[in-house]
Amino acid sequence: MGRLITFEGGEGAGKSSQLARLAHRLRGEGRDVVTTREPGGCPFAEALRRLLVQGQPGEMTDKTELLLMLAARIEHVRQVIAPALQRGSWVLCDRFLDSTLAYQGHGRGMDLALLHHWHDWALGPLLPDRTLLLDVPPEIGLQRSGRSHLESRFEQESLAFHQRVREGFHALAAESPGRIRLIDANQSPEQVEQQIGVALGDLFSDA
Ligand code: TMP
Repeated sequence: MGRLITFEGGEGAGKSSQLARLAHRLRGEGRDVVTTREPGGCPFAEALRRLLVQGQPGEMTDKTELLLMLAARIEHVRQVIAPALQRGSWVLCDRFLDSTLAYQGHGRGMDLALLHHWHDWALGPLLPDRTLLLDVPPEIGLQRSGRSHLESRFEQESLAFHQRVREGFHALAAESPGRIRLIDANQSPEQVEQQIGVALGDLFSDA
């Protein structure tokens, strides 16, 4: 089996560029690497992504949002992540389960036990081997995120929403300190990359 590494954090935390750096490093070491993202990662889930991230905040109910996120994840896992893990690849995924817990759970106020239940129902016992939580205050992240206006449905939410999401991520990291590693992302890209290397160190030694 391969390894599933997920990148999490609020808006503008630099996840995508750190994911690309790690992929470059792992490929340089001769490992087979698959990079992907959520919501999205396969054509079907990318179509759902457009519904989820475009448009206006109030365009769908929280329940619809949750079910579309889950539907996208089911197909993404079935079509991309599970086959890659079976082949022994390292899968680097930009957002996964913890985004659902932080955004739909802590941000929207949906019941966390229910979210865990739906995740298990939809996907079985699939958890990342390691989760890198790139942490940056939302005031800074929202400013530095270079997202196109087209994909800004979540960004248009209030600062209070983004603060709840950040606190949610912190609570998740405190509950699962073995899996989720908190990385201070308010530093230079090189410093963040170095911290990520440390946070993954034990995974390299046995794979
Ligand atoms: P991105 O910032 O990585 O492009 O992700 C798009 C948005 O989707 C981001 O604002 C967070 C949100 N999101 C959720 O609300 N729940 C989820 O489960 C996932 C995967 C993403």
